[in-house]
Amino acid sequence: MFVCICARVRDCEVRDVIRCGARCIESVGEASDAGTGCGSCHDRIAEMIQEETADTLVGVSA
Ligand code: FES
Repeated sequence: MFVCICARVRDCEVRDVIRCGARCIESVGEASDAGTGCGSCHDRIAEMIQEETADTLVGVSA
């Protein structure tokens, strides 16, 4: 499924760049181009950063 229609970036690509260290919308955009167009996907990208960061924190504390 596409997260960013403007740049044609899929959710798996956004999750990959977050897992590689992107922690804000700007850095996700630099790494994948997601969010670099109209901006309507920014809320979804922010949610994905929170989801992936929460997963990482759970993994660290386990
Ligand atoms: S849908 Fe992502 S920038 Fe437009």
